[in-house]
Amino acid sequence: MAKDFSQMEDSNPSANPSIHQVSDPAKRQTLQLAAWLGLLASVPATALAKSTSKIGFKGMPIGVGDFIELPADYVAQVLAPWGDPVGIAGQMPAYRPDATNSAADQAVQLGMHHDGLVFFPLNGSAQHGLLVINHEYIDEGLLFPDGFEPMTAEKVLKAQNAHGISVIEVQWGAKGWQHVRPSKWARRITANTPMRLSGPAAGHPLMRTTADGQGTQVLGTVNNCASSMTPWGTYLSGEENWANYFAAGDKPSAHHKRWGLKAKSYSQWEAHDARFNAALHPNEPNRFGWIVEVDPMDPTSTPIKRTALGRAAHEGAWVAQTKDGRAVVYSGEDARFEYIYKFISRDKIQAGGAAANRELLDHGTLYVARFDANGTGQWLPLIWGEGPLTAANGFADLGEVLVKARQASDVLGATKMDRPEWLTIDTTTGWVYCTLTNNSQRGEPGKPGVDAANPRANNTMGQIIRWKENGDFDGLSFNWNHLLLAGDPANARAEAQGNIQGDVFGCPDGVTIGPGGLLWIQTDVHSSQMRQGEFARIGNNQLLACDLDTGEVRRFFTGPTNCEITGLSFTPDGTTMFLNIQHPGESPSDRSDPKEPSKFSNWPDYVDETRPRSATVAVRKKNGGVIGL
Ligand code: FEO
Ligand code: CA
Ligand code: CA
Repeated sequence: MAKDFSQMEDSNPSANPSIHQVSDPAKRQTLQLAAWLGLLASVPATALAKSTSKIGFKGMPIGVGDFIELPADYVAQVLAPWGDPVGIAGQMPAYRPDATNSAADQAVQLGMHHDGLVFFPLNGSAQHGLLVINHEYIDEGLLFPDGFEPMTAEKVLKAQNAHGISVIEVQWGAKGWQHVRPSKWARRITANTPMRLSGPAAGHPLMRTTADGQGTQVLGTVNNCASSMTPWGTYLSGEENWANYFAAGDKPSAHHKRWGLKAKSYSQWEAHDARFNAALHPNEPNRFGWIVEVDPMDPTSTPIKRTALGRAAHEGAWVAQTKDGRAVVYSGEDARFEYIYKFISRDKIQAGGAAANRELLDHGTLYVARFDANGTGQWLPLIWGEGPLTAANGFADLGEVLVKARQASDVLGATKMDRPEWLTIDTTTGWVYCTLTNNSQRGEPGKPGVDAANPRANNTMGQIIRWKENGDFDGLSFNWNHLLLAGDPANARAEAQGNIQGDVFGCPDGVTIGPGGLLWIQTDVHSSQMRQGEFARIGNNQLLACDLDTGEVRRFFTGPTNCEITGLSFTPDGTTMFLNIQHPGESPSDRSDPKEPSKFSNWPDYVDETRPRSATVAVRKKNGGVIGL
């Protein structure tokens, strides 16, 4: 999600400095310098010596137009834009480019603002599978003919139906990739789809509401950001900026404030759907902020919110596997000065897919990361009754620790990060990579200063951090460094220059290890900054590949005007890359003018007076070869 930085959540007032914070400015300067030296040391030793590259494509120039650009020996095909029917038999209303589709239409059409996506092969095929797509948020200026005002019950329902997740069937053939309709797998999950709460916080008093006295059932999911596939074949989706959907009223509780709730919601659903009025229903927000597990192979399955993984402004979650077969789930929360987590399952992954692993993510231990200045780090357990996580400190039991994972991480002294976005796990080397997209408030008066892991004040550009566990993925300590600091060396301000070896970019967001071990990096510079100021030479948002042996970064793909590049998934043979173009034509004010919906972009339809649409793009090499190599 691109964000207007003035709207970004900033809810961590805790004073947990751990060992990073140095009150003496002179010492802080020393620490900063040490961090920079550490960064230099982290550049792979082979960087300058190796003259050949694993990257097999010619680097692209920056993008400045309202179109996709990629190397000449590749081709891109648009699939599944917002508003196309997903393909439920008998329920396939056509997309209307004037935004007059009803709420009921939207409930069976692809949602808005595609984000995370995963290709699920059918029977192991590289040419036939399901695409599962998150719809992160909406732009009311595009969703409604008359824009945001006035909000009505029908518009709230259409907005809710444009959120959630889509499952569609796709197949490779003579005309390239085709969206198969109707399909027995086609499905929409929205902000009103019944879901089950499971794990230690299910049924907890903090999860009970007027509508659900048991605290075990919840309607829907919102702000689904990144996603991944588990080793047992299910889909994990993160509920990210859910706080924007709730109104806390004029006297928010300390708990609501800590989670970023404001007096009024950004979405303004509460006027027509009272459960989003957190002043009336204070526990309803506790039922959001979880990782949602979906079995896309069973369109009748109930999605499950997994509370054992902790509550957060979850970007997403990614699963590694220990040598003895347990799941280690890494996740982070994309908010300023919040945290990175990992969950270690108690039980081993069983053969037999989703059905055989239905309770795997309900039992285990959650940890939060502390990055120490000497390049090591610790995973701090969120175990009730241990250390400060006791009733005396406001944690009645494990359920409360998980619902209040932020507060627990505060008192444990975890490291406050620069907005953790995607993670990816290099199973060949054991390195785990995490993008920290930016944090313009780092070092501001009254805000946390720089630390070793987050070494730049007014961090507009972001960085990619990585760590390797001591021992297996269940190790409780690790060694870390930065793969790179994003930026442009031509910038005057030292903190905006970065240390990229190769093509420049800012605000890393998506990150995925692809075929041959290339690291793919997707960017999300907000449209209010794109192609301006420190971003003047960085161009439109883009997809780049990094050769992890040399550190070289090369630009592969650039998107249309004011879009974000996100959602990356490959077919098993590596010959198709699916990615998402989110919010093409995003207004710098975050809400488009309904009178001028194509003011900034009309990708991908290129019809005047219509609307730009988020869509999936399938990228192939013209010769059918493996992408990137
Ligand atoms: Fe939804 Fe943090 O991007
Ligand atoms: Ca982002
Ligand atoms: Ca993101």
